[in-house]
Amino acid sequence: MQQTQIHLAPETPDDWWEVEALYDLCFAPGRSALSSYRLREGVDPIAPLCMTARDKDGVLAGAVRNWPVRVGQDVTILLGPIAVHPTRQGEGVAGLLIRACLAQARTDGWERIMLVGDAPYYRRFGFQQLPAVRMPPPTNPERVLGLALCEGAWEGVSGLVEPARD
Ligand SMILES: CC(C)(COP(=O)(O)OP(=O)(O)OC[C@H]1O[C@@H](n2cnc3c(N)ncnc32)[C@H](O)[C@@H]1OP(=O)(O)O)[C@@H](O)C(=O)NCCC(=O)NCCS
Repeated sequence: MQQTQIHLAPETPDDWWEVEALYDLCFAPGRSALSSYRLREGVDPIAPLCMTARDKDGVLAGAVRNWPVRVGQDVTILLGPIAVHPTRQGEGVAGLLIRACLAQARTDGWERIMLVGDAPYYRRFGFQQLPAVRMPPPTNPERVLGLALCEGAWEGVSGLVEPARD
């Protein structure tokens, strides 16, 4: 892994389109057709957990956004989208963003966090499969992962993931 000077900051309204362009570049076309996007519609992201990663010249290297979702009666964070520019991948930028999200979420009193992604990557941060939690189809259950931000926070939490709309 290279040593990279990276500055993390909360995403601002001025960052919005640049972050969207990064996601368009990094994800397959039609990313908004994914079931996770249905969970985000009409729900505000968790502002302190939306972050940009810029290099020393201010160039956007990566970004993450997080939304609240509901699993049964319990609210959890749904991490993502997260993406790192192809020229900056493998330098630990996503690791910085994920660890910053986990730290900020704990500070803000969140109890649990989940995502849909590759276990071989996310297990290094402590994410594990959530067999009792179902994403709307057609999500592969092996990609539904969670991490307890305080002890036992996923115990007894089960069911379908739904939008956290009031
Ligand atoms: C996945 C992604 C965010 C990782 O960003 P990154 O800054 O390169 O990640 P890091 O530098 O923190 O970690 C790199 C390490 O993770 C590994 N890794 C990356 N993606 C992986 C995956 N899908 N499965 C397993 N390992 C993976 C790399 O091989 C590398 O391993 P190493 O540390 O042994 O060299 C980035 O590749 C990306 O933007 N991909 C396209 C968008 C995407 O898939 N987002 C995630 C959706 S769940």
